[in-house]
Amino acid sequence: MKPNLSLDFCGIKLKNPIMTASGTCGHGLELSEFFPVEELGAVSVKGMTLAPREGNATPRIAETAAGMLNSVGLQNPGADHFIKYELPLLKEKGITVIANISGDTIDDYAKLAAKLDAAGVDMIELNISCPNVSHGGLAFGTDADVVYELTKTVKSVTKVPIIVKLSPNVTDVVSIAKAAEKGGADALSLINTLLGMKIDIKTRKPVLARKFGGFSGPAIKPVAVRMVWQVTGAVKIPVIGMGGIMTAEDVVEFLLAGAKAVMVGTATLIEPDAAYTILHDLEKYMEENGIEDISEFKRVD
Ligand SMILES: Cc1cc2nc3c(=O)[nH]c(=O)nc-3n(C[C@H](O)[C@H](O)[C@H](O)COP(=O)(O)O)c2cc1C
Repeated sequence: MKPNLSLDFCGIKLKNPIMTASGTCGHGLELSEFFPVEELGAVSVKGMTLAPREGNATPRIAETAAGMLNSVGLQNPGADHFIKYELPLLKEKGITVIANISGDTIDDYAKLAAKLDAAGVDMIELNISCPNVSHGGLAFGTDADVVYELTKTVKSVTKVPIIVKLSPNVTDVVSIAKAAEKGGADALSLINTLLGMKIDIKTRKPVLARKFGGFSGPAIKPVAVRMVWQVTGAVKIPVIGMGGIMTAEDVVEFLLAGAKAVMVGTATLIEPDAAYTILHDLEKYMEENGIEDISEFKRVD
């Protein structure tokens, strides 16, 4: 008998716990030419803002030994474009849609979340790694009080589950996770990228135009697993784990760290069908190891 990978996530029935990570698959439909995207648990679309954004100056991508740096800068055509053109196609295909959103102020997040909630997305993921304009540009996700306020405000104008996506660039990720839970978050996802830098030793200049970029890929997995384990030990709401997932075994590791679902990011930029391969390999892993239901993976002590 085939193992059961389906699960209830914040009241939403997911086919399996494998999702795409925001920013690594466009709006999700781009992957349709490689595999049936609707077979994944969910798709988290590229980070959206109220108004269209051009993104940062180039170069904004750099490779490193076991990961990559990006400073794309939330380039996107704006929420109205997504609602008009992409969302109907995603829904038509039966894809569970997570709208990943960013803003300059708490009010931006609230307006955007309310708009997307009304438009019919399945869940909303708050990217709190962006600068808070009202707080001198310090990232929202580094201040527990701001995270509480932001989550509470977004919750007050939405009905769909709200996922708060935590930044690893903090001293104490658990205090931020607890603030989001207290603010009413239905779930958490982590980790976003780690701040990194690369210098070209020939030109003696930083490789990225913005100097710093978000570091992702296999090198960050141990940091992500550690943070997921710490957070799942401290909150009651479900956690989506991500950071460097390349294989089904990596997924198992995150499930054993307490995650209920996972997101595949940088791996998709290497192999566009990575998430689909990982899904099938996970099913095979479960079969081979006599695991009948995905819920059998429990957080280790
Ligand atoms: C090119 C690129 C763009 C990204 N854009 C976003 C984004 O718009 N919103 C967001 O929350 N995370 C964004 N991320 C972060 C990923 O969703 C993910 O949290 C991170 O890359 C760690 O997972 P990975 O190591 O599997 O890639 C981006 C990552 C990459 C590589």
